[in-house]
Amino acid sequence: MRQMLWHAGVCYNHQTMSEKFYLTTPLYYVNDVPHIGHSYTTIAADVLARYKRLKGYDVWFLTGTDEHGQKIAIAAEENKKTSQEHVDMVVERFKGVWEKLGISYDDFIRTTETRHTEVVQKIFSRLKEQGDLYKGEYEGWYCTPCETFWADNQLILKDGKNFCPDCGRETQKLKEETYFFKLSKYQDQLLAYIDANPDFIQPPSRKHEIVNFIKQGLRDLSVTRTTFTWGVPIPDDPKHVVYVWFDALINYISALGYPDGEKFKKYWPADVHLMGKEIVRFHAVIWPAMLLALGVPLPKRVFGHGWWTVEGEKMSKSKGNVVDPIALAEDYGVDAVRYFILKAVPFGADGDFSYKNLFTTYNADLANDLGNLVHRSLTMVEKYFGGEIPETDNPAMDDLSKELLQARADLGAKVEKHMQELAFSLALGDIWELIGKANTYIEREAPWNLKKAGKEKELAAFINNLASVLATVAFFVAPFIFTTGEKIFLALGIKNHEELALILASDQPGKQIAHKKVCKGEPLFPRREA
Ligand code: ME8
Ligand code: MG
Repeated sequence: MRQMLWHAGVCYNHQTMSEKFYLTTPLYYVNDVPHIGHSYTTIAADVLARYKRLKGYDVWFLTGTDEHGQKIAIAAEENKKTSQEHVDMVVERFKGVWEKLGISYDDFIRTTETRHTEVVQKIFSRLKEQGDLYKGEYEGWYCTPCETFWADNQLILKDGKNFCPDCGRETQKLKEETYFFKLSKYQDQLLAYIDANPDFIQPPSRKHEIVNFIKQGLRDLSVTRTTFTWGVPIPDDPKHVVYVWFDALINYISALGYPDGEKFKKYWPADVHLMGKEIVRFHAVIWPAMLLALGVPLPKRVFGHGWWTVEGEKMSKSKGNVVDPIALAEDYGVDAVRYFILKAVPFGADGDFSYKNLFTTYNADLANDLGNLVHRSLTMVEKYFGGEIPETDNPAMDDLSKELLQARADLGAKVEKHMQELAFSLALGDIWELIGKANTYIEREAPWNLKKAGKEKELAAFINNLASVLATVAFFVAPFIFTTGEKIFLALGIKNHEELALILASDQPGKQIAHKKVCKGEPLFPRREA
């Protein structure tokens, strides 16, 4: 039996902590290849998944692709492919990018898979039987790029044409037979749920938008289409295919094997659905209403992060300014991309991607602050102690050391608070604050003077303190930049993540880390020249 250790925000012994954590990204449309925007949500989800695993949670991290609907059918046609050929090709691009970026998803669902379409059909039949769906005719406007229905009074009218209030593109007039979902019926229940669960929709600005939207009055939603065929056909009425959003939202439970699957019982409700702000309405209105109709508990949290522009402009193929995450990773390294994208902008706010900013951040935070700290520290272990971390019986030898060790011990709680809030940039800020303190520690203690003065004991305490700080940094950066985290603990002579957790969870990490043989290796982040 292993002993449960919990210290300074580090948990060791994952067996005893099996609280579950289920998180999802949107299912991305496979009309086009993934760009930095898709990577943003997916990296954030990956960081959260890795962090929760580190904390001992039983994590289930789902991502995937949204493969039906008119927009995909049109993209396939443009590529002179059948819809199936098209989606089979593009989905590989998504998987390839996620592999490159180190995305540790537990499951990848495609809405064209049988395990999904069967559940969609089952749910459709059930909602129809219980009277939550009824047949009628939809007459109104549709934005194909957004796959959204709009009423007359919601559109933007310009030169006699009707434009989408979300994306600004021209809408098309629809008039077709459809099944409606009784969305209006769930208005009051939804408002009551939002009221009773203040953290359901985040950040607060998104919540206000949604509450206002619902209070304006929900209209029943058209949930089938008859003018094209690329979708899930409806049982008993197959000229109808399910509206792509109604189809896709179901993935969050179909992937778990709803209604009877073990995973569904274990992981649902979702702890957090992550997405961009433009699709919060679907996740915080339509999706919960569907779940209310099914009698399934609602997700705990829906988080809508901000929108990235590039050098001040909206990213678009026609502008030719789409940022390719693979090219970026090949240039800067995967860890630099993961770090930058979460550090540059508070999660929830909009952000502007600029190459200059990436360059500056790389040199300042990664090459300079972290890279130099690791390099200098390991160099001193080699120079002063022949490459072996010295032991000390007086780590808190002076105020500076006390302060550093306190900051080290406090880091876990700070990071935890910010990770709970999904404040990734602030969590990184906490870690970099400790890194900054360690760099200052080196300058203020001036080890070269300790050496000159023959203060061997002080020098040993100093190096030992730096080593335990580096181990702590290695642990907490790992969810964000896992290759770097691993390089740091390996350089400290720590064999694996388990050993690292064991060292940090003890109440005297300095004792645990003494006598490890360091191995300096290459600089983590070589400085880049302009
Ligand atoms: O909406 N900035 O798929 P989608 C930030 N299939 N995030 C961005 C972004 C940007 N510029 N561009 C894309 C769909 N994203 C539906 C979802 S879910 C059941 C169905 C990210 O391919 C962000 O997460 O248009 C956004 O919400 C998502 O990609 C939209 O992806
Ligand atoms: Mg979109």
